[in-house]
Amino acid sequence: MKGLILSGGKGTRLQPLTYTLAKQLVPVANKPVLFRVIDTIREAGVREIGIIIAPHTGEEIKRAVKQANFDAEITFIMQDEPKGLAHAVRTAYEQGFLNDDERFAMFLGDNVIEGGIGALITDFDQHPEWNAQVVLKEVPNASSYGVAVLRPDGSIERLIEKPPVPPTNLALVGIYMFDGRIKDAIYAIQPSKRGEYEITDAIQWLLDNGNRVYPHIHQGWFIDTGKPYDMLEANACVLEELTPAIAADAVIENAQIDKRVTVQAGAVIRNSIIRGPAIIGEGAVIEDSYIGPFTSIYHRTTIRNCEIERCIILEDTNISNLPARLQDSLIGRNVTLTRNGTLPRAMKMNLGDHSVVYVE
Ligand code: TTP
Repeated sequence: MKGLILSGGKGTRLQPLTYTLAKQLVPVANKPVLFRVIDTIREAGVREIGIIIAPHTGEEIKRAVKQANFDAEITFIMQDEPKGLAHAVRTAYEQGFLNDDERFAMFLGDNVIEGGIGALITDFDQHPEWNAQVVLKEVPNASSYGVAVLRPDGSIERLIEKPPVPPTNLALVGIYMFDGRIKDAIYAIQPSKRGEYEITDAIQWLLDNGNRVYPHIHQGWFIDTGKPYDMLEANACVLEELTPAIAADAVIENAQIDKRVTVQAGAVIRNSIIRGPAIIGEGAVIEDSYIGPFTSIYHRTTIRNCEIERCIILEDTNISNLPARLQDSLIGRNVTLTRNGTLPRAMKMNLGDHSVVYVE
């Protein structure tokens, strides 16, 4: 079986960060979301992986993936325009990554899922008569998702996109398994009202044409990191699961560091308190600061004389002398955030790469 990861798209909901960075490369607990997806697929035993990329972020994704040196055979597939998830699959057929009768697993490159997908892949393997399998999750607010209606035998009867009054609370999450019938479906469907070739329409076409589609109900958490809040939520969930470790060459002087804190190679922590779960990246410097739970400080970033909680701070950024706690924030690369003058009471920010902020 092959794995197809969708890492193209526009990423408009994560602007300004995505003006200069592919959203799939934003780190969650100091590892890019896309790398977490690749690891999940590899752990399930799939080695041949295709990654859909877009013209504006493709090169950056290629470079990062190649540098990470995964034990996998990776093919990059350029999708010229973000015309939808079904169009991305069509591109994978047209560029020869997928063969006509092949079964494959498809993942969204910006989704983070708890636990592995080994059981799901085995399930699909053991049912060659199934044409597709979709992962569903019970959610409280199903009206903002694609929703599935099941038949009494447990198979899927139909899918409804964002129903105002959802008939079930079973939402589609971003993992799908297909056989070759999906190819007919994606060539048969028309673009939706928003102009995209929707994967839900392709699956509905499978159902309308007598194919068998079964669900896999996911029990753990699952997060689509499309928006800054979701990114922080995914970061918190992954940090909770991380096995903490302190690198042997980290420098720690006069610091209180909780058990659930990971400190990566070459980091320096002085006169500071770090409350877990949290992660401090390679070569990062934390001085005279408080780092609260659910915070990820990425590589080579410097924090001086600040309180920071529940944030993701990307690499090579400098934050100093903030007069109030920085919380619930997603801060880009090479940002300078420092204080000049008198005191505000709270701050909440969503800053892209190279931002410069002076709180006066
Ligand atoms: P989305 O989050 O649905 O779309 P997007 O990335 O364009 O984001 P936004 O809505 O904020 O503008 O995409 C889910 C995943 O699928 C994501 O990793 C990007 C990828 N994708 C493609 O590879 N090709 C496409 O044509 C689309 C629409 C998305």
